[in-house]
Amino acid sequence: MQDTLTLTRPDDWHLHLRDGAALAAVLPFTARQFARAIVMPNLRPPVTTAVQAQAYRERILAALPADADFEPLMTLYLTDNTLPREIGAARAAGVVAVKLYPAGATTNSDAGVTDIRKTYATLEAMQREGLLLLVHGEVTDGEIDVFDREAVFIERVMQPLRRDFPELKVVFEHITTQEAAQYVAASDRFTAATLTPQHLLYNRNALFTGGLRPHYYCLPVLKREQHRQALLRAVASGSPKFFLGTDSAPHAAVLKEASVCGAGCFSAPAALELYAEAFEAIGALDKLEAFASHHGPDFYGLPRNSGRVTLQRAPWQVPETLPFGDALIKPLRGGDTLNWKLL
Ligand code: NCD
Ligand code: ZN
Repeated sequence: MQDTLTLTRPDDWHLHLRDGAALAAVLPFTARQFARAIVMPNLRPPVTTAVQAQAYRERILAALPADADFEPLMTLYLTDNTLPREIGAARAAGVVAVKLYPAGATTNSDAGVTDIRKTYATLEAMQREGLLLLVHGEVTDGEIDVFDREAVFIERVMQPLRRDFPELKVVFEHITTQEAAQYVAASDRFTAATLTPQHLLYNRNALFTGGLRPHYYCLPVLKREQHRQALLRAVASGSPKFFLGTDSAPHAAVLKEASVCGAGCFSAPAALELYAEAFEAIGALDKLEAFASHHGPDFYGLPRNSGRVTLQRAPWQVPETLPFGDALIKPLRGGDTLNWKLL
């Protein structure tokens, strides 16, 4: 049995860091595991301009532990009103991507896009300037079942988008279904996808085991086992279209354990270990390094990291709660023992 696993330093291509005291509480976990992360712009108010992205980047750098070696990669939040000229400014400011949230799809998405056609001039500018489009791929139509929203998004939004902007690089974020895995696998080199640890490890039963389990509630919501199996096949294939994006999304425990529970799993404290568990369960540990450390930078057109990290088979317990500003936060799998540990 393999007891250590040394990888090129990985990156997290989908991360929520929040701001202020919450940012300071969660950032060290990611900075310890990853060299870079794509930082999501869904603050309140959202990060919609190059100037705001630059200021947010400065706040992240200021919140880093002194010994950290971590680079935040910034994104803009696409709205119906994002001007094409903002794209040139964003690129000049080092912003690498723009996030599409369909209005109302998830946490802090009320400013999101109401109809993608309203953003076409801006997407045109992104295609020209080489900024990526990161997509929360769910329709928000109340008549579509919450478990079907990703599959319907492919027909209604992804297919027309790919036809109209064939050379725009698009990341289908946190895919959760067989339909999305197949769509991305069959697409050309301008389309890729991120996968979270929770969607590789759990099906929707996790939400209901012995009662309602708010800490397993994220969006897109966990799906049937058949879909989880399709995601595992996608990562086991070794295809460069699939890479690591935790979607670690911290919410205070009091707000998760409430009559209305916010969507998001906080996986940052054990992210790499959780992926190792998922890959080992399907006998695909040999595919972890490319998924975690090669495919992402290759798709973004960025250099791979030069450092190395080592995972060791050494049982450790994920803390049940952690400080989160004035509140507490419960990480994914808190209180459980994991078999892999990042040294
Ligand atoms: C994210 C959050 O909390 O910001 N929540 C989640 O369930 N993933 C938003 C998002 O990425 O959808
Ligand atoms: Zn997210």
